[in-house]
Amino acid sequence: MIIAIDGTAAAGKSTLARKIAAHYGLPHLDTGSIYRAVARDVQKAGHALTEVNAAAGAARNLDAATLSDPELRLKGAGEAASVVAAYPEVRAALLDFQRSFAATPGGAVLEGRDIGTVVCPDADAKIFVSASAKARAARRYVELRGYGVDITEETVLKEIEDRDRRDRERAVSPLIPAKDALLLDTTELDIEKALAAALELIDKAAGLR
Ligand code: DC
Repeated sequence: MIIAIDGTAAAGKSTLARKIAAHYGLPHLDTGSIYRAVARDVQKAGHALTEVNAAAGAARNLDAATLSDPELRLKGAGEAASVVAAYPEVRAALLDFQRSFAATPGGAVLEGRDIGTVVCPDADAKIFVSASAKARAARRYVELRGYGVDITEETVLKEIEDRDRRDRERAVSPLIPAKDALLLDTTELDIEKALAAALELIDKAAGLR
């Protein structure tokens, strides 16, 4: 069974996708980490994120063993990822890796922005996770403060809105729910309630209940 989890920044996708994968005993790929790693490699090589060729080269040479690098979770990595993710050359270079992962015997859970629309259009279940920008900013603010980051909630909200805009407005693979995606709004849900709702949607989509 292939499960596609797409959605906006800081909507709780990663936690949800990890728990969904554990529930069904499937491997999980956080595709955001791939774009984060490309941005990291571009910057480490001394290039600017605006250098499309450098970004495409980094995408072609990406080392999957570096995707769990804790640096990728640092503040700024998501914004940088969103910049290189807008280049068609980068997205094309990363497609095979994602599709090979999805082809794992038994299935897989992939989370990102374009899994249900582009990477796995034939996924057995597609969920599009979102929450109000305010709710997402409030959650991200608590998380960042927990890491000791000095930031205001207003700044976090602005960064989230900017990233949503960039992800939605890019020409290739924009952030948009697949026509057959099931929408899950987590504004009023804690993670346990969101998980229960997601499992019910997935079971129904896959004909398991
Ligand atoms: O899910 P995330 O916040 O780690 O993703 C970081 C950025 O990477 C996101 O703002 C846009 C980009 N991304 C993408 O364009 N397509 C994906 N499938 C996953 C992430």
